[in-house]
Amino acid sequence: THQWRGVVEEYRDLLEIPEGTPAVTLREGGTPLVHSEWLSGHTGAEVWLKVEGDNPTGSFKDRGMTAAISVAVHEGAKAVVCASTGNTSASMAAYAAKAGITPIVLVPEGKIAAGKMAQAILHGAKVIMVRGNFDACLQLARGLAWDHPVALVNSVNPVRLQGQKTASFEVVDFLGDAPDFHLLPVGNAGNVSAYWLGYQEYFDLGVSTRKPRMRGFQAEGAAPLVTGEPFPDPETKATAIRVGNPASWKLAEAAAQESEGRFRALSDEQILSAQRELASRDGVFVEPASAAGVAGLLADVAGGESYAGSTVVITVTGHGLKDTVTALEGFGPMVESVVDADVNAAAEAAGLL
Ligand code: F0G
Repeated sequence: THQWRGVVEEYRDLLEIPEGTPAVTLREGGTPLVHSEWLSGHTGAEVWLKVEGDNPTGSFKDRGMTAAISVAVHEGAKAVVCASTGNTSASMAAYAAKAGITPIVLVPEGKIAAGKMAQAILHGAKVIMVRGNFDACLQLARGLAWDHPVALVNSVNPVRLQGQKTASFEVVDFLGDAPDFHLLPVGNAGNVSAYWLGYQEYFDLGVSTRKPRMRGFQAEGAAPLVTGEPFPDPETKATAIRVGNPASWKLAEAAAQESEGRFRALSDEQILSAQRELASRDGVFVEPASAAGVAGLLADVAGGESYAGSTVVITVTGHGLKDTVTALEGFGPMVESVVDADVNAAAEAAGLL
């Protein structure tokens, strides 16, 4: 009876969803804020990681998906569709399975991580690989939902942001107030918009006394919010944020402007290096895109910016096990040693001799 109920039940009064909508839930949310000794020591700030890889399907998408699928089912949907770089499709497929409706997934051919693809397939999705990027997939998804009886659950569906804003509530509920800064990766720009919505609402309700500056980080090869122009051919190893024309562009710009925040672009090398350091120094394994906020903090500080004395929350958006291929690329062909089953050989290989 004391189990966490999932974000729809935990925060129902604060969500704009039809009254009495039954929750389709896998008990998402309630994710840990993990203190980073490494980043706190490095910056002189108190740095907390909101570890969203701890959600049921391994990413923050579950927060929005429990809300979107609950409402879709309540309104009679028998099938749901989304475009995805992988995580949205994994999440949608799981919640559709739970609800007993059909998931249809549109993904860019060859550009989604193996773990995410496995999730969508195992959860029973009809997976359609599109010769085109995420932005093309989203256009297709809109078209399918327009022409056929399938509900669109990308973050252009406002119910998604309702679910995702609960992450801000959890941060404030845990810290006792909003942080000074909130850093996170940005792709289709739904999440930064949802966080800002949540922080504003808690402030307006008097739950918090301040609002954070929102700092969003993109990959250099897919940085439309930084340059102000869509990227027709977005490219990055952080495939989750390989988005050239974000659907929530306007909302995200408003979030940055109203919070006195900003967007910044990072190289793939900065992102992948942050991923490796976070894993080896803090014990937190995230997928490449998910390390963009950490890479951003490091880049800001290297560039002379000070976070000293402030409270910083960084959302690490998805689990490292989603994409082990990219994770291991940085280590060359072989980092393990192969030895005979012999104590001395093992000791030598371990560097103990
Ligand atoms: N981090 C991860 C791991 C993601 O999967 C995404 C988005 C983001 C960050 C960026 O969030 O789009 O709200 O700005 N993934 C989408 C997907 C595009 O299809 O799974 P955003």
